[in-house]
Amino acid sequence: MDKPTVLLHLDTDPHPSVFDRVVAVDSGVQHLFSYGGVKPDAVMPLVHGCIFTRGKKDLMRTAVFVGGSDVAAGETVLAEVRKHLMPMFGLSVSVMLDSNGANTTAAAAVVAAGRHIDLSSANSLVLGATGPVGQRAARLLAAAGGHVRIASRQKERAEAVAAGIRKQVPKANVEAVAAGGGDAEDALDERNIVIAAGAPGVMMLPAKHRIACDTLRVAIDLNGVPPAGIEGVELNDQATNRDDCWCYGALGVGGTKMKIHKAAVKALFTRSDAVFDIEQIYDLAKEIG
Ligand SMILES: NC(=O)c1ccc[n+]([C@@H]2O[C@H](COP(=O)([O-])OP(=O)(O)OC[C@H]3O[C@@H](n4cnc5c(N)ncnc54)[C@H](OP(=O)(O)O)[C@@H]3O)[C@@H](O)[C@H]2O)c1
Repeated sequence: MDKPTVLLHLDTDPHPSVFDRVVAVDSGVQHLFSYGGVKPDAVMPLVHGCIFTRGKKDLMRTAVFVGGSDVAAGETVLAEVRKHLMPMFGLSVSVMLDSNGANTTAAAAVVAAGRHIDLSSANSLVLGATGPVGQRAARLLAAAGGHVRIASRQKERAEAVAAGIRKQVPKANVEAVAAGGGDAEDALDERNIVIAAGAPGVMMLPAKHRIACDTLRVAIDLNGVPPAGIEGVELNDQATNRDDCWCYGALGVGGTKMKIHKAAVKALFTRSDAVFDIEQIYDLAKEIG
């Protein structure tokens, strides 16, 4: 008989995320071990507790999820988890990173855009592209082959993100622009897709600019806190056609994000050596559609 599934939930915040715990339960996880305030120096014994307890054939029934509101801290914990796995001896478990929901949200946004337009030839603009969600969305769009404008209110910050994406995606065709303080008109020029990934409650793109851009086909607003990040796009929009443009609001994307999150947690228990970071989560998201 199969051993019960165990998810080790490492959260960098003091209280492990209730959201991530509920999703784990709804994804069928049988035993959830949640730890809060996890720092890198605490990771080794936690990982050893995973890999030294079950036989090799049962290790796929144990997995690790890294979360918390600080994406950089989550990335550090993920790296530490990987450091203490020993796949060369078959002592490994699968691991997923979704701090702040950044990976699943960015994947959901890019999958939504890809439903309406060929991403390999699309011109995109990501507003708020210096945040964790925006950076990941921009990276996925660049990897798909289109031209991507990376926007920040400070062009130097956008340049830094663009340089990082060029390192991760050598073929990336990205351009840093200054926009995001409600002044996105020039940045929007000749764009087919706009994703607003600005901070909650900040209007990044006025309706008049969106409507005036006659090349725009997809507008995705990830901000769930009024006012909308893209003026005129409603929270529940899900492939809603407005002014000849397919619009998505935060809740419209959120449904897909939840499906991706659950599918990724389930996929953790299909093998013992998978790492679900942005690219792998996006691959899964494309299968879900
Ligand atoms: N729908 C979902 O399921 C879901 C899940 C997770 C997150 N979200 C939402 O996705 C969005 C992006 O998340 P995030 O964590 O990446 O965001 P974030 O880090 O809080 O902010 C992203 C960027 O917004 C810009 N920004 C901050 N304050 C601003 C202001 N007053 N005016 C204009 N721009 C400002 C900053 O860029 P510059 O300083 O470089 O301009 C910042 O790097 C948020 O609205 C979040 O709530 C949605």
